[in-house]
Amino acid sequence: MGGCHLCFLFLCLSSAMVVVSGSSSMNNNLPIITFEDGYTPLFGDNNLIIHNDGKLVHLTLDQRTGSGFVSHELYLHGYFSAKIKLPADYTAGVVVAFYMSNGDLFKKNHDEIDFEFLGNIRGRDWRMQTNFYGNGSTNTGREERYDLWFDPSQDFHQYSILWTDSKIIFYVDNVPIREVKRTESMGGDFPSKPMTLYATIWDASDWATDGGKYRVNYKYAPYVAEFSNFVMHGCGVDPIDENVAKCNNAQNSKANIIPKHKIKMENFRNNHMTYSYCYDRARYQVPPPECVISLEEAEALRKLDPTTFGDGRRHRGGGKQRHHQSKGRKAEDASF
Ligand SMILES: *[C@@H]1O[C@H](CO)[C@@H](O)[C@H](O)[C@H]1NC(C)=O
Repeated sequence: MGGCHLCFLFLCLSSAMVVVSGSSSMNNNLPIITFEDGYTPLFGDNNLIIHNDGKLVHLTLDQRTGSGFVSHELYLHGYFSAKIKLPADYTAGVVVAFYMSNGDLFKKNHDEIDFEFLGNIRGRDWRMQTNFYGNGSTNTGREERYDLWFDPSQDFHQYSILWTDSKIIFYVDNVPIREVKRTESMGGDFPSKPMTLYATIWDASDWATDGGKYRVNYKYAPYVAEFSNFVMHGCGVDPIDENVAKCNNAQNSKANIIPKHKIKMENFRNNHMTYSYCYDRARYQVPPPECVISLEEAEALRKLDPTTFGDGRRHRGGGKQRHHQSKGRKAEDASF
């Protein structure tokens, strides 16, 4: 899962709950496939268990190993989705990931699009992160982090990635939560080579929770993440000739977020986003080119964490400015 493994703010955001109800979208009518139709076990042998004729899969992390699965096919663009229920209670150090990557094919210049769920100590909620890399752009992490408007360990919720040649949209229960529009100036940083889908659960003790302060505690194992309602509506790519896609998904390239969903997305981002690289001036003095700066998002993040998202002119104790801190340092500062 390359990239930014240190920069985890540890913020408890209990206020500002906005109820964003699920709603129908074009992607709701897509066929649900079985595990066997789309996926194959990747690692963790007995820690991957298939239930209900392939409609449900349990991925377990215990003292011995994590586990994961991978799609049979490589895809160039498409809509990919699963319902996921995360382990409950004490989950510090545990990471559950649902993502696309071609890191095994392109070691130096891989592409990646990620949902990552970061466990937490008892009584604190899971946090969700999205990120992407294009053509090995691992020096430019494009992380955003959010809290959710529900407890993701209580029920199944749908997490979806729409990837076209011009945009990436992340959805939670059909609500778009992040839209990345490709710009010319991104160059190769926009994912553009075929990728496979992955789901994994693993021990990320060294970085996941408060910069490694809270490690996986196997007293609470096994940690079980449940996956169901698999949708893979993509352009499968011929593995012999990776440049020839077997379908034409022009309908996806035209995907636009309808105004009603735009408003939901803004509400979510203004009320539930806890980190965005686009506003982290210590990290990027100039935001990367795809960033669309929103005054509301900037203000909300500044309120939450003035150190990371202040405007650089803010005077702190003794009139000293604080900037150019390392990410690990900021994670500590932001802890309780
Ligand atoms: C992607 O990376 C490779 C290897 O570093 C490079 O040759 C190629 O030009 C890059 N492609 C784009 C679109 O930037």
